[in-house]
Amino acid sequence: MTKDAITRHSPSTGAGSPDVWGIYEPDTGSIQYICACPTTKKAALIDVVWNFDPKSFATDTRSMDQVVALAKENGLEITLILDTHPHADHVMASAQLKQQLGVPNAIGAKVREIAELWRDLYNTPTAFDPERDFDHLFEDGDSFAIGDLEVRVMLSPGHTLGSITYVCGDAAFVHDTLMMPDAGTSRADFPGGSADELWQSIQAILSLPDETRLYIGHDYGTDDRDAPMWEATVAEHKAKNKHVKSGTDKADYIKTRQDRDATLALPDRMLAALQINLRGGRLPEAEGDGHSYLKMPVNKF
Ligand SMILES: [Fe+2]
Repeated sequence: MTKDAITRHSPSTGAGSPDVWGIYEPDTGSIQYICACPTTKKAALIDVVWNFDPKSFATDTRSMDQVVALAKENGLEITLILDTHPHADHVMASAQLKQQLGVPNAIGAKVREIAELWRDLYNTPTAFDPERDFDHLFEDGDSFAIGDLEVRVMLSPGHTLGSITYVCGDAAFVHDTLMMPDAGTSRADFPGGSADELWQSIQAILSLPDETRLYIGHDYGTDDRDAPMWEATVAEHKAKNKHVKSGTDKADYIKTRQDRDATLALPDRMLAALQINLRGGRLPEAEGDGHSYLKMPVNKF
């Protein structure tokens, strides 16, 4: 598996279609995106990573710095910081970017319910206030603009109960629903996840026009492929996706998904990441010694 922070540009295909850059974050196999309006040069950042070492609990900003530098090199003005869901495998850069760039951040409105779930799991009844930490909480069907482009929000639960997809012209940022066609789909076994709901969400995504470019949230390569990939069209997924290609029976998919999930370990950053991500990417308030501390449940997972 290559460990390079690879970047690829997928150009606008015409009116209403965004310029997309994908920036691969090799430590977590995450793909971060820039979605830009080719005429106004305004851009949104999607699912950007704040690097977090799971052994030392030390953070650094090299990945978000790379994304911001790439936007600047291309003459873009960043106007929005978007996330598709509170990630379990990486810490989100949202709060840092919001402060650094002075632009609003956003996520799906069901983050309120995800916060409720994790308040119980961490036994922190007053932690997490999405209204405070996000400027916009998008509902299913909401729309907003990036320059002259319109973005539509689709609720896509399954991986989490409140994941959303951003559909912008012929591009859709589908995060942890689909993986590449040769890898299948994303896991659905985290608290609030559901293979049944993920199936429904994937069917809605695969109902977009065949030429829609789908941008996924993670790629770890496969036994036959080292280089990370993150873009495939609806038509390619319908023809080849190993879990959900056309003709797949829903019950067979759910069995495949659940059997696979039963073999997967928890992401090594999960219990740290969620309590930061449910604060929009902020650490808990610093204590008297100037440091922030995280809280870890023992024997709960
Ligand atoms: Fe995720």
